[in-house]
Amino acid sequence: MAVRMKRNYSLSGGFSDAGAVALDDDLIEARMEQTWWSPDIPRQQLKALMQRRDSPAVRHFGLWIVLLVVSGSAAALSWGTWWAVPAFLIYGTIYSSSDARWHECGHGTPFRTHWLNEIFYHISSFMTIREGILWRWSHARHHTHTYIVGRDPEIQVQRPADLLKILMDFFYLRSGPPEIWRIIRNAAGRPDTNVLDFVPESERAKMYWSSRIYVAVVAGFAVWSLAVGSFLPMMFVWLPRFYGGWLHQLLGLTQHAGLAEDTFDHRENTRTVYVNPIFRYLYMNMNYHLEHHTTPMIPYHALPQYHELIKNQTPPAYTSLWQVYREMIPALIKQATEDPSYHLTRAVPTPITQSTAESMPTAVPSSPEFSQADAQDWVAVCAADELDENDVLGFEHRGRVYAIYRLDGDTYYATDGLCTHEGAALAGGLVVDGCIECPMHNGRFDIPTGQAVRRPVRKNLRVYPVEQRDGQIMMRVIQQPG
Ligand code: FES
Repeated sequence: MAVRMKRNYSLSGGFSDAGAVALDDDLIEARMEQTWWSPDIPRQQLKALMQRRDSPAVRHFGLWIVLLVVSGSAAALSWGTWWAVPAFLIYGTIYSSSDARWHECGHGTPFRTHWLNEIFYHISSFMTIREGILWRWSHARHHTHTYIVGRDPEIQVQRPADLLKILMDFFYLRSGPPEIWRIIRNAAGRPDTNVLDFVPESERAKMYWSSRIYVAVVAGFAVWSLAVGSFLPMMFVWLPRFYGGWLHQLLGLTQHAGLAEDTFDHRENTRTVYVNPIFRYLYMNMNYHLEHHTTPMIPYHALPQYHELIKNQTPPAYTSLWQVYREMIPALIKQATEDPSYHLTRAVPTPITQSTAESMPTAVPSSPEFSQADAQDWVAVCAADELDENDVLGFEHRGRVYAIYRLDGDTYYATDGLCTHEGAALAGGLVVDGCIECPMHNGRFDIPTGQAVRRPVRKNLRVYPVEQRDGQIMMRVIQQPG
């Protein structure tokens, strides 16, 4: 009889199947460096796709609020009749699409205006029962270590696949209660060990207070229900995530379920599937999930365009949900009943050899005049006209990576070139409103000061003096005092 080995998905274990060697952080980073794939696409095209605008998101979120109000009003008015069943199902489905809004706003990409992303992030975090501070860190880890066992806290279908649990999550019954328990624990200041693993100590007080607010709001609705002697108020917060969660699970499973674990190529562990316009709207284009994982800086509305540009470098997109499920269901049954190590294999069109670092548009000057520092440590980086307005260029000198920026007009700046969060090359990022946004988890630094201004980055960048001399950008490779 076959022995079904359960993998260790805890964040302190990983790769702990019998006989396997645990991957430590260094090994994981080394493997990522060797094999992480990113599409081959001109920098200018990518930059155009990454641009942020408020107007599409204002329209999108405005419509979403209208849909919530109209469906919620219809549901309230139908309370006590059989019409309440379809009415609350529609309201609950729209309410549960808060999860897609939580996700997008967490990346900070829908709106150009930072505070709009933040407001909608915290509202939708509450609605979808994902405490905002905790899940920001969890999701950053998911993007760094997508489906790496023992590192990714968001592996939705763990092996051997538990089919009952998968079905339960069509009504959020497997993931919802533990999430509520986690909020209660955090409100009491007693996080579990997994939370301690990915939420930095400096963020925990905020997480505790945010959890307390969640508990207080839900308690307020419970008191309201008791006061009016009706369950109706409770039907509008958190419960919709359960009775209306079916679509979120239907779409969410297509992201990674049944695909490979412990690979460092998103083309092997992430799917893109075409769905109808209503689902695409509710899901904020996250059906283009491979494109999202490959380049999380691209806002939801530009993902279809990005897909068209890179689809010849990726496995074919699934043409329908039916095509995904026809393949996925037998795979999950096989994982559950016969072979937990089984996974679907995607047809990757190009060899997995390109590394993230290689794909970053870095400028590494090689001529002697560009590589030598003068007596005052000034180094010629590049010709001034090589750098577009509001853009960034990577530069390496004596084994250290720097980033040179040109902001509005002819103002140039320089900082260290690697993100202080997890070391991504900032030259692959986007200059937005005087900040450099990191390509890995969308953290931001103020360019003139190097100050970390958006999580998950917390540590500032070092800044360096820059001058323009005779059409050349010169940088002094000495750290600015202070
Ligand atoms: S590496 Fe995480 S924000 Fe830069």
